[in-house]
Amino acid sequence: MANIVIIGMQWGDEGKGKIVDLLTEYADIVVRFQGGNNAGHTVVVGKEKIILHLIPSGALYPEKKCVIANGVVIDPMVLLEEINELQKRGYFTQEEQLMVSEDAHLIMPYHKSIDLARERLKGAGKIGTTGRGIGPAYEDKMAREGIRVGDVLEEEVFREKLKSVLALKNVFLESCLQDKGFDFEKVFQEYWGYGQRLKKYVGNSSVFVNAQIKQGRQILFEGAQGTHLDVDHGTYPFVTSSNTTAGGACTGAGVGPTKITEVIGVSKAYTTRVGSGPFPTELKDATGEKIRELGREYGATTGRPRRCGWLDIPLVKDAIRLNGLGGIALTKIDVLSEFSTLKICTAYQYRGQLLEEVPSSVRALEECIPVYEEVPGWKAPLQKCRRFEDLPRETRDYVRRIEELTGTEVMLVSVGESRDETILRRNPFRRDVPPTR
Ligand code: GDP
Ligand code: IMO
Ligand code: MG
Repeated sequence: MANIVIIGMQWGDEGKGKIVDLLTEYADIVVRFQGGNNAGHTVVVGKEKIILHLIPSGALYPEKKCVIANGVVIDPMVLLEEINELQKRGYFTQEEQLMVSEDAHLIMPYHKSIDLARERLKGAGKIGTTGRGIGPAYEDKMAREGIRVGDVLEEEVFREKLKSVLALKNVFLESCLQDKGFDFEKVFQEYWGYGQRLKKYVGNSSVFVNAQIKQGRQILFEGAQGTHLDVDHGTYPFVTSSNTTAGGACTGAGVGPTKITEVIGVSKAYTTRVGSGPFPTELKDATGEKIRELGREYGATTGRPRRCGWLDIPLVKDAIRLNGLGGIALTKIDVLSEFSTLKICTAYQYRGQLLEEVPSSVRALEECIPVYEEVPGWKAPLQKCRRFEDLPRETRDYVRRIEELTGTEVMLVSVGESRDETILRRNPFRRDVPPTR
């Protein structure tokens, strides 16, 4: 029996959606445990491409259950639209396929306004958030002013909570942020309506998931964002507002750490970032643009161009430490096929010192100069490779060099966006099957 956590090792968009979709074949239940619709997880099956923001990336398997657990912040309008969209495409026809935690917090309209207004007022110093209200929703959760899914199902409870919270939010919006406040009755009716439409999915997801584990079902926990966007361990303050690292799976799903079998990290074969914040290996030149065009590096949620650069090993090694990773799923290696030489950042130069870890201060990280190792490219397409031996020698050497530098196994190599464009060297759900090295 295996319960696996999948997390991003960089700044998000590593290809978690593809990896989760692929591994769902071996799991029974897929659980989203943090983040919200700031996430955009792309799943490509055959000619079909679906971008999921809230619903777990296991949604395309009708027999697998999808759970949105307590640690997620839910914009109910987005969730209902996503369910609708999936149903229009012939998926998610059984309502039992989805469970939404009654303890998950809701993103309210004022959260979105506060997020946008604050970014506007910060000007050049902005975080570059997705503008989806994620930060303000998590702030309210910690301030104990949040409204949870279960609250909007009880008329009096909801009325009272919203009344007291909205009064404060309107003062903040109007007096501090020079923005418009919200009408109580309008918000109440809108969210009461969402609650009525969602109530058939609502339940205690911790009780459900733990009962399933007891019965021997296999769980896949799907992380959103990436390790370096973690609110505690990321490039603070240029981070998101949740714990994106593996520990978040336990608190965000109500599952004890002893139930997790392994953590797998997803990393691109290079590095990207959307939004502001330090990025030592960023290429602000033609090479960076070439990676962006070849990798089609434009945000799945906001459409913003992603900043691109070479693979950063200190960043990857930090993710291995912070998540206790047992293996790396290396994605988008096919994107590097056009380059005759590649660079791998093995350490940073900081004020005359050689650093092998990511410094905690963003000021220091901004000053870090990457130390590069140059390696030969392969100049050959990889999409048709299905076994590790099918890859050109230089590609295998690139993967092996990553394993050497990180001391961690690359258990999967992804050579294209589709489910089948994958070399699965070890299946974390199939411990009986020996790895193909
Ligand atoms: P996520 O947020 O981690 O799920 O990643 P996104 O979906 O935001 O971005 C990853 C993008 O890369 C998507 O467009 C995927 O379809 C695509 N992708 C994933 N793996 C590969 C791969 O191995 N090769 C290529 N060329 N594209 C990939
Ligand atoms: P997936 O799950 C990439 C970034 C935003 C911004 C910062 C804070 O698709 O990998 P927020 O709206 O969360 O307050 O924004 O975090 N960010 C992501 N970047 N992928 C994501 O999700 C992201 N979710 C948030 O760009 O820099
Ligand atoms: Mg994404």
